[in-house]
Amino acid sequence: MDGGVINGSSSVCMIKLKSNDASIMISDLSKTSSSLSSCRFSKTMASLSSSAEAAAGVKQQQLSGDSFIRPHLRQLKPYQPILPFEVLSTRLGRKPEDIVKLDANENPYGPPPEVFEALGSLKFPYIYPDPESRTLRAALAHDSGLESEYILVGCGADELIDLIMRCVLEPGDSIVDCPPTFTMYEFDAAVNCGSVIKVPRKKDFSLDVVRITEVIEHEKPKIIFLTSPNNPDGSVISDDVLLKILELPILVVLDEAYIEFSGLGSKMEWVKKHENLIVLRTFSKRAGLAGLRVGYGAFPLSIIEFLWRAKQPYNVSVAAEVSACAALQNPDYLEKVKVALVQERERLYKLLKEVPFLNPYPSYSNFILCEVTAGRDAKKLKEDLAQMGVMIRHYSNKELKGYVRVSVGKPEQTDILMDCIGRLS
Ligand SMILES: Cc1ncc(COP(=O)(O)O)c(C=O)c1O
Repeated sequence: MDGGVINGSSSVCMIKLKSNDASIMISDLSKTSSSLSSCRFSKTMASLSSSAEAAAGVKQQQLSGDSFIRPHLRQLKPYQPILPFEVLSTRLGRKPEDIVKLDANENPYGPPPEVFEALGSLKFPYIYPDPESRTLRAALAHDSGLESEYILVGCGADELIDLIMRCVLEPGDSIVDCPPTFTMYEFDAAVNCGSVIKVPRKKDFSLDVVRITEVIEHEKPKIIFLTSPNNPDGSVISDDVLLKILELPILVVLDEAYIEFSGLGSKMEWVKKHENLIVLRTFSKRAGLAGLRVGYGAFPLSIIEFLWRAKQPYNVSVAAEVSACAALQNPDYLEKVKVALVQERERLYKLLKEVPFLNPYPSYSNFILCEVTAGRDAKKLKEDLAQMGVMIRHYSNKELKGYVRVSVGKPEQTDILMDCIGRLS
């Protein structure tokens, strides 16, 4: 074997010398981090005696790459994203346009024509974007009624979730997560060295406010993530409940990624009254720009200042900013698409209700969660539909084991989905 290795899992640090195949065991160490520093020490020692080693014909030692990675990240389970369209297409042996993609809550209508025109006539793609996304923030202020100084834009709402945690969490701090919900909160907490206190939703997917209150009072978590409408069930949080949680000593991040489909107003303006409230939104759903990655958030002024300092300067690309601005120039299109999706959601709900082995939940969003009943297997249902070119979301976590989620598509996509489900009955 060539060079030295650190074996992080057994916490033994070893340098192996090729010339005579002699192993020097440095120490047995109980902590990976101390193992790592001991090994760096050994590496330094090894380099100091390089001339002697050279004389002995010793090859340069090497540390294995994972030994450089922070210990908490070595244990991180990778996030499981959905398959890219092209990969899916190859796997299913179908052209992308022949796949009915109802698994990721994307907006099947895409953005208004202004976006394609703006992208086709980008003047300065070779110049870095505006780090403050000034044009877009001004457009968002007009769109939302909240002044642009309260608004920060990100590479998707996803980036802002991570940025908030980077600014707020010390290693060992915790967040409150209310599953089933969007799994990025849990994932980003793990990346940011935070722990997760789970307060599961009740059977009807409403928040367990009593338990949330207890946990906040006793365990002093830093942030609670609330999603309204919630992904995956589509339920919303009432103003009363939100106000109760806002009274607690915790930073509340209200994720409104799907608010446009709810018929309710956004709470963006509430950040002026509540120092502990952040509201997140996105262009991915309302404007069909998931692929261009633009999200935004409303923050109290006392918080936004630090996000500005910590964010990557060029986090929103020229293409993303131009596209989002162009989308906001056509509010009629955005409204028409939203109305079409909400109408289709109601039609889809009625159709799913008639399926003998599905129990759909009423939704305020652009997806519908269904319990798979009558002894049917949810995973098999997803796989059977995928074979027919219809993608829906299935879950492997324990809270949602017997459930599937169907995004709302165009009417013709609903028809294909229902035809395929009918063939499985
Ligand atoms: C609740 C919720 N928040 C945020 C996001 C991510 O939004 P973006 O595409 O802007 O990163 C999603 C994406 O599905 C979501 O479901």
